[in-house]
Amino acid sequence: MAQQHKTRYLCRALMSRHDFQIPVLFKHHIVFTRNAFAPENAEVADVLREGGGRRAIVFIEATVAAAWPGLPAAIDSYFANLDLDFCGSHIFAGGEAVKADEVLVRRIWEAIDAAHIDRHSYALVIGGGAFLDAVGFAAATAHRGVRLIRFPTTTLSQDDGGVGVKCAINGFGKKNWIGAFAVPFAVINDFDFLRSQHPQLCRAGLIEAIKVALVKDPEFFTWIEANLSALAALDPAVIDPCVERSALLHAHHIATGGDAFESGSSRPLDFGHWAAHKLEALTGYQLSHAPAVAIGLALDTLYSMHCGLLAAPCAERILRVLDALELVTYHPALDWTTPAGRRCVFAGLDEFREHLGGKLTVLLLQDLGVGVNTHHLDESLLATCIDQLRQRATPHA
Ligand SMILES: NC(=O)c1ccc[n+]([C@@H]2O[C@H](COP(=O)([O-])OP(=O)(O)OC[C@H]3O[C@@H](n4cnc5c(N)ncnc54)[C@H](O)[C@@H]3O)[C@@H](O)[C@H]2O)c1
Ligand SMILES: [Zn+2]
Repeated sequence: MAQQHKTRYLCRALMSRHDFQIPVLFKHHIVFTRNAFAPENAEVADVLREGGGRRAIVFIEATVAAAWPGLPAAIDSYFANLDLDFCGSHIFAGGEAVKADEVLVRRIWEAIDAAHIDRHSYALVIGGGAFLDAVGFAAATAHRGVRLIRFPTTTLSQDDGGVGVKCAINGFGKKNWIGAFAVPFAVINDFDFLRSQHPQLCRAGLIEAIKVALVKDPEFFTWIEANLSALAALDPAVIDPCVERSALLHAHHIATGGDAFESGSSRPLDFGHWAAHKLEALTGYQLSHAPAVAIGLALDTLYSMHCGLLAAPCAERILRVLDALELVTYHPALDWTTPAGRRCVFAGLDEFREHLGGKLTVLLLQDLGVGVNTHHLDESLLATCIDQLRQRATPHA
């Protein structure tokens, strides 16, 4: 009798369903500073102290170490004054190439393991967006996540990617295919690093500031227009506040937009990105993220206009800003076609949908600062926009 009762109980249990809520709150700590490892600068020390971790290791991108030869010694002295086991600075090559395979990820895992960095210790990473992405992915997966403190060193990584909550490397010929959502322990935007960038790289990274202004903050866009010549001249008096406002707008959207880990299909911060990601992959990453976004943003701006959403004078204002910052809005890869005659870049729409995991959702512009989601783009209208971009690039052809 008792046995019969037990069996019945188990059967009932197996057919039941339980929904638990797992509330998890993340603190997204973002600091703007200069000369972060100067002895008198307490920002990094405060962040480390707040976490109370025991050990720290530093990963520096080789180009940054070369541009700032005093950096490893400054970091050594800084840590010498902290009550923490410092496991040294490790220098590795960066750039988009490190996202092409798992080589750097494995070397970071090995360094983290050898230094006994645990989930309460810190991995500091100093470099451009690609280096942050690859090292960030290694840190997110070592011990299922060690504390990552990012020091982005390019305009693009400071004004966008570095304050994001994602990391990835490329895989299967696709951008950011292997990755994770992982909120960094802190982001320290040290404006000084921006000064050693190639001017073209510094200007190109402003595209994400333009993007976020266009989808979130029309006043910011007007500010960018008003300061165009100083921005083009890379005057720190305007570059730094531009980077800061863009970073905060991105972080604000992530923190308050209700979908930090992108489980929905709508991705307003990816305005212009469906074509950008595909152009990067099509060109074997010869075209890097920022210039690719400039083209994607110009394409989706023209599309917004041609499909009747955006007034022509607004579209012209956007293109004028891109021109003033010397951001190129056409690449021949836009015209490459498959043997079946379809433009290769249009596969970016299929991949974007697949990456989102839901239905295709592309943000178009209705006005400056006003985006609207659409679920279908007309390829012949896109072709018209590409024709226009080509003509703008070669006006006398
Ligand atoms: N995780 C995210 O949310 C996110 C968001 C946007 C972009 N990204 C990724 O970021 C990458 C692009 O980042 P990026 O534009 O910083 O390019 P990048 O990391 O490729 O760096 C560009 C070049 O600048 C060099 N460099 C970096 N900092 C420098 C400095 N201070 N002085 C001199 N040279 C320096 C690098 O060595 C590299 O050669 C892409 O892979 C993109 O997918 C990620
Ligand atoms: Zn981007």
